[in-house]
Amino acid sequence: MTRHLLRDDDLTPAEQAEILDLAVELKKDRWAQKPLAGPQTVAVIFDKSSTRTRVSFAVGIADLGGSPLVISTANSQLGGKETPSDTARVLERQVAAIVWRTYAQAGLEEMARGTRVPVVNALSDDFHPCQLLADLLTIREHKGELKGLTLAFFGDGMSNMGHSYVLAGVTAGMHVRVASPADYAPREDVVADADRIAETTGGSVTLYTDPLEAAAGADVIVTDTWVSMGKEEEKIARLRDLGQYKVTQETMTLADPAAVFIHCLPADRGYEVDAEVIDGPQSVVWDEAENRLHAQKALLVWLLRQP
Ligand code: CP
Ligand code: NVA
Repeated sequence: MTRHLLRDDDLTPAEQAEILDLAVELKKDRWAQKPLAGPQTVAVIFDKSSTRTRVSFAVGIADLGGSPLVISTANSQLGGKETPSDTARVLERQVAAIVWRTYAQAGLEEMARGTRVPVVNALSDDFHPCQLLADLLTIREHKGELKGLTLAFFGDGMSNMGHSYVLAGVTAGMHVRVASPADYAPREDVVADADRIAETTGGSVTLYTDPLEAAAGADVIVTDTWVSMGKEEEKIARLRDLGQYKVTQETMTLADPAAVFIHCLPADRGYEVDAEVIDGPQSVVWDEAENRLHAQKALLVWLLRQP
């Protein structure tokens, strides 16, 4: 059966660990695996802007012996004239996999239902699972085993990043804390799904409204933009509502002394994080950005290898 990565819990704990192990191997030798030699083509489609995702998929697909076909929705029939399922049926006869950054999760689900090739969510309004594979790889490199670590996320808990930390974090057996105003808490169904996973992995999800309480003793401090793509009209309200969830040096002082700071980028210094933190000694954001390449290559190798 064709496997897809539409949300973080599409991978079991064992599968997530297997992909991270493979990413470690591919990071040691970028050209060790050539499953796309031929070359086979992978379609990488963008409805929203991107730097890291665009570059890391294009470079990674080339590393794997393949040919990336990067498509802007604005210049294609998708996103207006043609449905995701019709697009999927056209693409599956020519490409080995489809990577798509879009708005609605439902569009990705429709694309996946309509095709025999793997579909990868390269960010939707609800989840950013590729980013989480890179983040977990980065945390593993700096902190060792993921299981049992405490990760504290600050800001927009109902965003794609908030949801992905909740699901992927508990899948890895981590204790995930989300500090946000009540109106920005992660969706209840996502927390319920994470709670079910946590029962098998020993992880947990805890929601906080007090950011200082959430920071106390944490091993990983995380934030993301307060104004995700598609939310620009809410900017004024968001800056007002999320102001007290900024990651500052005080946040880092409350965390474990060996804590690392991560951020998927792009960052708004002075808003969700102070420059002294993101540019400071505990920040590992550039390793994190590089790891998009290695983690996504491992994901593609793994997906293409499924029977
Ligand atoms: N972190 C991330 O997905 O970055 P881009 O929007 O630049 O792809
Ligand atoms: N939450 C952000 C992530 C950007 C990589 C957004 O959706 O804009």
